[in-house]
Amino acid sequence: MGVSIVSTGSYVPDRVLKNTDLEKMVETSDEWITTRTGIKERRISEGETTSDMATEAVLRALNGKSSPEDVELIVVATATPDAFFPSTACKVQSKIENKGAVVFDISAACSGFIYALYVADSIMRSKNVKKAVVVGAERFSKIVNWKDRTTCILFGDGAGAVLLEHSDNEGVLGFDIGADGSYGELLAVPSVGSNEEYPFYVRMKGNEVFKIAVRTMVDSIGRVLEKTGLKADDISLLIPHQANIRIINAVAERVGIPKEKVFVNLDRYGNTSAASIPIALDEAVREGKVKSGDLVLMTAFGGGFTWGSCIVRL
Ligand code: COA
Repeated sequence: MGVSIVSTGSYVPDRVLKNTDLEKMVETSDEWITTRTGIKERRISEGETTSDMATEAVLRALNGKSSPEDVELIVVATATPDAFFPSTACKVQSKIENKGAVVFDISAACSGFIYALYVADSIMRSKNVKKAVVVGAERFSKIVNWKDRTTCILFGDGAGAVLLEHSDNEGVLGFDIGADGSYGELLAVPSVGSNEEYPFYVRMKGNEVFKIAVRTMVDSIGRVLEKTGLKADDISLLIPHQANIRIINAVAERVGIPKEKVFVNLDRYGNTSAASIPIALDEAVREGKVKSGDLVLMTAFGGGFTWGSCIVRL
């Protein structure tokens, strides 16, 4: 018995915020943002909540593949839940009209989707759960300080989802996953359990995060390749967390995966945190960049610091 990704779905809000729009909001330029990050525009919710976006992504993933009531497990990775409780997963469950599934949220910042995949895969194997939905969904525009040019240019909103099922052939081949909490202060959003005053915004030491992100993803990719007995050449497509094109290029170069095999959509969406990998995976599938049988390597890095890499055969 194996576990496989059988379908994908994603949703981004209609509203586009371009770099040239940001020029009117903070002291920045399209040229600076493009050369330092690769981002040209991002999507911003016009009232859609995180669970609204997650629900739409889930329904698109389920479309024609499974009815919502057959789903036994829903895991939502998010750093921007609609509420402290009920969980975003409970809200999604209610909106897709499922009852009785095991549902919960996971907090692992930008690595959240890989963490959620890891947990769902483990539960499916150990508890004989046959159908699960794993989602990454974020409304980062709500926790960005729109007066801080060092962070507000980076993030966007959106959601992506996958449907996982038991399969005869193995689809989810292996993980490398971990965290180092000693780096917590370099990339953080405080909340009500802290002694900090509301409002709570993203704060980041971008330069330091950058260097550790590259190193950590390169090491994580090395470990997941070793664990699965695969080589960089075997990978059909690398789907890295979409934070910064310079990070992506540095990682791909160091692990020896050519640019043609690296999926990039951050120019259109910016960093959508836990949603970035599942949105990219869905687009790669829809654009025909990957097909059945291909090996896809996903790698993420985020606040915590957390990291995670996973290799799947589609
Ligand atoms: N527009 C124009 N200038 C800006 C700017 C903006 N939006 N933001 C910062 N600057 C300025 C800085 O103030 C600094 O000016 P100074 O030299 O006069 O002090 C200069 O640009 C360089 O800043 P620096 O932070 O060193 O730039 P950088 O090349 O490291 O790029 C990031 C900044 C944030 C794009 C980059 O560090 C990054 O992407 N880090 C990782 C972020 C990330 O991926 N986070 C999520 C991980 S999950």
